[in-house]
Amino acid sequence: MNEHVSLPAADDAATRSNSRKVFIKTYGCQMNVYDSTRMGDALASDGYVTTEDMGEADLILLNTCHIREKAADKVYSALGRLRDMKKARQAQGKELMIGVAGCVAQAEGEEILRRSPAVDVVIGPQTYHRLPDALKQARSGTRVVDTEYAVEDKFEHLPATSKAQIRSRGVTAFLTVQEGCDKFCTFCVVPYTRGSEVSRPVSQIIDEAKRLVDAGVREVTLLGQNVNAWAGEGPDGRNWSLGDLLYKLADIPGLARLRYTTSHPRDMDDKLIEAHRDLRALMPYLHLPVQAGSDRILKAMNRRHTGAEYLRLIERIRAARPDIAMSGDFIVGFPGETDQDFEDTLKIVEEVNYASAFSFKYSTRPGTPGADLTDQVPEEVKTERLERLQALLLKQQADFATSCVGKTIDLLLEKPGRMPGQVIGRSPWLQSVNVDAKTSQIGEIIRVRIIGTGPNSLFAEPAESLMGS
Ligand code: 5AD
Ligand code: SF4
Repeated sequence: MNEHVSLPAADDAATRSNSRKVFIKTYGCQMNVYDSTRMGDALASDGYVTTEDMGEADLILLNTCHIREKAADKVYSALGRLRDMKKARQAQGKELMIGVAGCVAQAEGEEILRRSPAVDVVIGPQTYHRLPDALKQARSGTRVVDTEYAVEDKFEHLPATSKAQIRSRGVTAFLTVQEGCDKFCTFCVVPYTRGSEVSRPVSQIIDEAKRLVDAGVREVTLLGQNVNAWAGEGPDGRNWSLGDLLYKLADIPGLARLRYTTSHPRDMDDKLIEAHRDLRALMPYLHLPVQAGSDRILKAMNRRHTGAEYLRLIERIRAARPDIAMSGDFIVGFPGETDQDFEDTLKIVEEVNYASAFSFKYSTRPGTPGADLTDQVPEEVKTERLERLQALLLKQQADFATSCVGKTIDLLLEKPGRMPGQVIGRSPWLQSVNVDAKTSQIGEIIRVRIIGTGPNSLFAEPAESLMGS
């Protein structure tokens, strides 16, 4: 493991003006958000500071997403704009380097260099600890594609995030514990872009969690493409599953809240359900995608469970933690989906009653088994189904928000609100909540009473007795 590198404080103006600056644009999921922070760490050890202002950057890095066609297309249109920016810079005799990281980099590699002459470096999700080397090579005139699969563990080679950087990112943090997926759902590129399942070792995870807490983080979300497939050897020599890991993490003093995402129904084992029953630190919110309601489509998607099995699982989870809020992902218009199949999706949504959800039109991904299926659903049918599904999900989400009014809850104060004197906090159910509080209280967990709902957030007033934090 690399030694802890001491970095300039984010607000050290003198250092900032002498350093190279990197602007990182993140597309896609939370794993990419986490990876962007770790790429920032790798670059910090190479003398870069991150900037929020693309105009002052010497390096622009796109951390890309390949999950749906639209996400991948965005990258090429962004690269078109960056080519013009680079030309304008070069006309002034200044450097602008352009890097493409993430899942499009992994999937398309060399093709990106061919299509986008302005790109200097293409780096995959498993090799970004080698970013400084790749940039050095690119600066000496050789454009680089480095998308090898894990020959070495990048986490062993990345510098630890400095305390100052963790602080600058706030009181909630992501922590990747697992990457890749072995499930091979027939619509999904993840097993190809992120590779097969790899779990980080317990000690690495605990160390990173402790470092986060040490720097003031109160809530940690464990990340993995298939996070509940995480497995590792515990300090007791037993094989641990995610549930065991959560019990261990919940023991870290100061770590007030835990979450994890994204889960597959097949990997919700008993220990994990028990963790929901036993651990107050484990927040009552679970993102458990089902994708579709019809058994025929679930089978064609290779989800390896039926609708009834999913419902039964949710029943068990709710029995363990009655106040748990469910969240999910849905795909409409998978090849061969009939009106009746779609009705089954609506039915399962009705039965579960989701507090939040994400829904998408099926998008054909090259290289996946779904791409070979012939009976594609017409675009206008997908549009109509998505509208109906989203109307139902939005109604459930609004009903859930309304059902919170009048409740007294613990709120983790997270960031300044839009109005002076207001702070935005996070409810146990992952809702944004506005409350009157001082910004100096950020990081505290206070008791509040929910008094109203807005379009995307709730309003609360402090309850009489302040909880210690
Ligand atoms: N088309 C549409 N949605 C997809 N997802 C994954 N692959 C596709 C695809 N080819 C959705 C799934 C998954 C979420 C992250 O993205 O719902 O859970
Ligand atoms: Fe993709 Fe399925 Fe793996 Fe999720 S479980 S990442 S949808 S293949």
